[in-house]
Amino acid sequence: ALVRRYKFVLRNSSHTRLCTNKTMLTINGQFPGPTIYARRGDLVIVDVYNRAGHNITIHWHGVKMPRYPWSDGPEYVTQCPISPGTKFSQRVVLSDEEGTLWWHAHSEWSRASVYGALIILPQKRNNYPFPKPHAEVPILLGEWWNADVQEVMEEFLASGGDPNVSDAFLINGQPGDLYPCSRQDTFKLRVEFGKTYLIRMVNAVMNNIMFFRIANHNIIVVGSDAAYTKSLRSDYITISPGQTIDFLLEANQPPSHYYMASRVYASGGNFDNTTTTGIIEYIGNYTPPSSPLLPIFPDFNDTAASVNFTTRLRSLANKKYPIDVPLNATEKLFFTLSINLRPCPGNTTCEGPFQERFLASVNNVTLVLPRTDILQAYYRRIRGVYETDFPDNPPFRFNYTQDFIPRDLWRPEDGTDVNILEYNSTVELVFQGTNTVAGIDHPMHLHGYSFYVVGSGIGNFDRDRDPSRYNLVDPPLMETIAVPRNGWTAIRFKANNPGVWFMHCHFERHVSWGLGMVFIVKNGKSPNEGMLPPPPDMPRC
Ligand code: C2O
Repeated sequence: ALVRRYKFVLRNSSHTRLCTNKTMLTINGQFPGPTIYARRGDLVIVDVYNRAGHNITIHWHGVKMPRYPWSDGPEYVTQCPISPGTKFSQRVVLSDEEGTLWWHAHSEWSRASVYGALIILPQKRNNYPFPKPHAEVPILLGEWWNADVQEVMEEFLASGGDPNVSDAFLINGQPGDLYPCSRQDTFKLRVEFGKTYLIRMVNAVMNNIMFFRIANHNIIVVGSDAAYTKSLRSDYITISPGQTIDFLLEANQPPSHYYMASRVYASGGNFDNTTTTGIIEYIGNYTPPSSPLLPIFPDFNDTAASVNFTTRLRSLANKKYPIDVPLNATEKLFFTLSINLRPCPGNTTCEGPFQERFLASVNNVTLVLPRTDILQAYYRRIRGVYETDFPDNPPFRFNYTQDFIPRDLWRPEDGTDVNILEYNSTVELVFQGTNTVAGIDHPMHLHGYSFYVVGSGIGNFDRDRDPSRYNLVDPPLMETIAVPRNGWTAIRFKANNPGVWFMHCHFERHVSWGLGMVFIVKNGKSPNEGMLPPPPDMPRC
């Protein structure tokens, strides 16, 4: 394994899309940000310099950081922000991840423009578990706001309603040629007939699950969240914010120009059905069409299409890539995920339903981030920063997915509560979507771990019937999973990575509303089962 070093300078730089020029936060002036390349098991050191007027933290999404939460990144969970004028050297400790991950800011809404791909190749002399592709191409789905995203966030928090939607979705930073203003910069992928390409896709969108499709071509999924999957042939993919999907594209159609496109899948809430496009251009002599063919998408609200794709993913689960899904759980957790309402302060009115304000909760607790980070407080035994009573179950049972819910359940409690896990406990966690105010998918992301997705379904989880249908043979290994609207998802993992680990919905508006919680995984008994000490340059609050 190698040590690789990267330099990230956060600064304001100016960019133009949709004929609008604006200044925004970027790393090294690039949008999307630089791609990090490494091999399995490498140590990547990133020197992050803050030369902007805004606090920042950077998170290495999907990297487990064994015994080393200090560089994980979430603001006020594992660190205080890197303040303007300061520097923090982050150690990105790779272990068994192999495939595509990404990095992004984990501070307020700055990930809107501060993100990039993190590509982890197999170790030298090792091959992919699929035929070697002719070329590899990262494709990052993102968004463009004509307005300043910090202002969009502040206005959204003040209004109590839904945030403004972006002005365009992006493929590799470009809105595509359905937007006349940005046409000439459309992302183009030039392919040779007969060759196969490995596409490494990241959904870096803020608030939407996306469909993606290429006109006239099927794709073959081979991995997700830096773990290989069984080959899955499909004509579209569903990808949630935080998730990555690796797929093969066979250039096997008559040479021409074809659109690749991505469109919102939205279940409830405000959405914008804008489509972003890129172009697949075959190399060769032919007359290109005046306008390439657009792929046909599932309906924007087609939950079945979204769920069907996700539930077809399977681990390789063979000799070379075995799985180790816990067959029993010593720790059973049941977490309800809810959107809730709260009256507006004073006599003001808010823009949510009933003129109240939106918030969100897990087991009826709305996460309030502290002013000192939880990791620091845990390590140095600082009292009064967090409490250790995050509940294993919701405070009461109800019919989670019915449409009308008594008003009391709209009122969660604020809290900075952590749930403590014993070292090496085997955890089963069932996420139960609820319909307290609105039933909506929640792409749940866990830091510090990958987990096996052993089951999911629509409606209320049935603890007597559903566990007998779990897939313990080849469940996919992921770190972000969309819990379907009005449904549930069960995951399992072994708590073998001591530290402080954030778990939250990867919709940015839901995190802002408090849809997250924190696990503390205790140290094991032997010295190499405990957290490593912090680096000397940890940012201070
Ligand atoms: Cu990709 Cu806590 O996030």
